[in-house]
Amino acid sequence: MTETIAAWTDRPDTILSQALRYSRLPVCITDPSQADNPIVFANAAFTALTGYTHNEIVGRNCRFLQGPDTTPASLDKLRAILASGEVGTVEITNYRKDGSKFLNSLQIGPIVNEEGRITHFFGSQLDVTDARNREDSARDLADAETKHRLKNIVSVLSVLIRLTARETLGPDALIREIIERVQAVGDAHIRILTGSESGKSPIHEVIGGIIGAYAARGSASYDLDGPDIELTPDAVTPISLLLHELATNAVKYGALSTPGGAVDITWQTGDGMLTLNWAEKGGPPVEHSGRASGSDIVGRLVEGSGGKLEFDWRREGLRVRMDLPLA
Ligand SMILES: Cc1cc2nc3c(=O)[nH]c(=O)nc-3n(C[C@H](O)[C@H](O)[C@H](O)COP(=O)(O)O)c2cc1C
Repeated sequence: MTETIAAWTDRPDTILSQALRYSRLPVCITDPSQADNPIVFANAAFTALTGYTHNEIVGRNCRFLQGPDTTPASLDKLRAILASGEVGTVEITNYRKDGSKFLNSLQIGPIVNEEGRITHFFGSQLDVTDARNREDSARDLADAETKHRLKNIVSVLSVLIRLTARETLGPDALIREIIERVQAVGDAHIRILTGSESGKSPIHEVIGGIIGAYAARGSASYDLDGPDIELTPDAVTPISLLLHELATNAVKYGALSTPGGAVDITWQTGDGMLTLNWAEKGGPPVEHSGRASGSDIVGRLVEGSGGKLEFDWRREGLRVRMDLPLA
């Protein structure tokens, strides 16, 4: 059978033999009719991957590629695939001739003749070391980011709860206000998680998503204008909380409480800062002269992030300006 394979792959006119010999994918073929199922053919990509010459490979069982870090679990899987008579893939730690390790994504399967008998096995080896390393470092980064976000969420929530408790009278109102604010933080973080792959959120989506949830007349009652920027998760939280507070008040007492009212939200960036302007118009005359407690709480969070929050209680409509560091 060894001769048959050799003769087959030696015929220069055979497209299949050319494909096997010159494929950039390492390939080897073994013969189970011989003792210990040795390699009878290995292509140039296989010798390039492993560092062994063709003569050093042919006649040996593929297990010579294994070494101390090859796990028993990967060997069990390999044996199970071979026993199943099906094609299967296993990731197994292998070693080159120079002793260097690589992670081999090995695909193996039987070659069956017309009578249904297994005459050979094929194996194709793919070095996935770099791909796995990249995945590992991406996962480490994502884990670190998740921890950082979790710490942030916990500290934002503890500030929120402490300040809300200090400024809210009565247990019912306290519970309601805490639930609303915790919900706003939760919504902001869900938005971050479902945002773009870079982990950043487009500002239009963040602002539009929040205000859209409050505006009964939909986009007719608000206008957004500003450059397309991507917000980091750290910036999304204060912006979301501020908009939640402002929108809640606007629905209860301000421009969003009347059919003709509307809110203009505009923003600019410069010197690493984001300036966000909130301007209500067409609502009932503004009577308020002090800050609402919710906005006060957000003000402290914004100040905690190195930013600033200013209120202008104009009779024709509340105006708010927030300056927030982008980094
Ligand atoms: C076609 C074929 C290709 C194989 N290629 C590899 C390989 O690249 N790396 C490896 O560690 N094992 C490879 N093996 C698996 C080993 O040859 C062997 O089957 C495995 O170590 C389990 O058998 P054992 O318990 O006798 O060692 C291959 C097996 C076959 C049939």
